[in-house]
Amino acid sequence: MRFDLLLVGYGHVARRFVALLAERRSRLARDHGVRTRVVGIATRRRGQLYDGRGLSARALESYWVSGPSTGSGPPRASSTGGFSRPATPTVDFIRHATRQSGAAARQRRLIMIETTTLNIERGEPATSHIRAALAGGAHVVTANKGPVAFGYRGLARAADRAKRRFLFEGAVMDGVPVFNLVRETLPALAIIGFRGVVNSTTNYILTAMEQGQPFGEALAEMQAMGVAEADASLDVDGWDAAAKTAALANVLLGAAITPTMVERRGITPETARAAIDARTEGRRVKLVARAGWEGNRVTARVAPETLAGDDLLAMLEGQQNAIILQTDLLEEIAVVQRSGSLTQTAYALLSDLMTIARDVMAAPATRRAPTSAQRRRTPSRRVRR
Ligand SMILES: NC(=O)c1ccc[n+]([C@@H]2O[C@H](COP(=O)([O-])OP(=O)(O)OC[C@H]3O[C@@H](n4cnc5c(N)ncnc54)[C@H](OP(=O)(O)O)[C@@H]3O)[C@@H](O)[C@H]2O)c1
Repeated sequence: MRFDLLLVGYGHVARRFVALLAERRSRLARDHGVRTRVVGIATRRRGQLYDGRGLSARALESYWVSGPSTGSGPPRASSTGGFSRPATPTVDFIRHATRQSGAAARQRRLIMIETTTLNIERGEPATSHIRAALAGGAHVVTANKGPVAFGYRGLARAADRAKRRFLFEGAVMDGVPVFNLVRETLPALAIIGFRGVVNSTTNYILTAMEQGQPFGEALAEMQAMGVAEADASLDVDGWDAAAKTAALANVLLGAAITPTMVERRGITPETARAAIDARTEGRRVKLVARAGWEGNRVTARVAPETLAGDDLLAMLEGQQNAIILQTDLLEEIAVVQRSGSLTQTAYALLSDLMTIARDVMAAPATRRAPTSAQRRRTPSRRVRR
């Protein structure tokens, strides 16, 4: 079965994802019967492009190299029945593109890949993008933790109503399964809390400084590799970890918190100096994220903690991450990510795409219910007749 993709955001992660799809094309087709094509793309500065017949690799490359589009105005129709337009609100593009891809949407073959920049204050514009895509009949896959950290419950409800999937494995620990692990393999079990190291940039800085590298130099390396957020203070000040903590707490613990409700302290050059001292005593300083039920509410915190040398989290080097889930039946389960890379984040998008593909391909045709947008449109057509 062929799946049509709308790419909203085309930066480090989305470009690696497109390359990974090309690298794995024959394996996806041979082993899983899944083919994909990109039909639409939108970024903030490069404008928007749609072609229901699929955009070629050359079209995507020329979109990328042509640089920011300028001016404003109505969409320009292309000779292939698609359209291109300068940067207008992305939500409008998504509505238009999902309408144009009506057949794929009805057949549950349309997927929006949302990889816009994290906005730590409100989780926007990604949350609005996701709502628009779900209402238009597209499934949504994102690596952006903002929407899950700020509006998980509402978005999960919107996906249920639309009978579409909303998946976000890449939001925490890249492609290493955390949400999938719990959802797919731990039925009838409760997660009662977790603690972990969930931000690669700060763990890299702390480890590098233990080895004598200056703070700024270690941070610059992470930025050059595209691992640090575009605004590095999001990593260093603990906001990224707070967003992941909120996302994990919302999904795994059933909380309804936002990153601003996570007690938060980031790392500074002083923290890194404390890490050097702790190491000489056989201990490690790590930026630890934790959340759990306390009475009838979930509390969450991100802060540097001095850990005993034999603590699993103390053993994490460089960009390594880990989460220890506290469960009611299996005690503690640890998931460790031994290295991080763009490929791993891109793989998270690919694995979510495959979860959707398996779901759609296994579903009888009767489950292909109309989307909420289609339901809204039906009565007005009757009136016009
Ligand atoms: N990089 C990683 O290793 C990593 C790991 C896990 C999760 N993530 C998450 O994945 C997402 C993407 O990361 P990235 O490294 O690919 O970021 P990036 O390179 O900065 O790319 C972000 C993309 O989003 C676009 N964008 C921003 N606002 C937009 C809007 N309103 N409408 C349409 N497009 C918009 C940008 O367009 P312009 O270029 O035109 O501004 C750019 O194409 C982020 O949410 C990040 O937190 C990243």
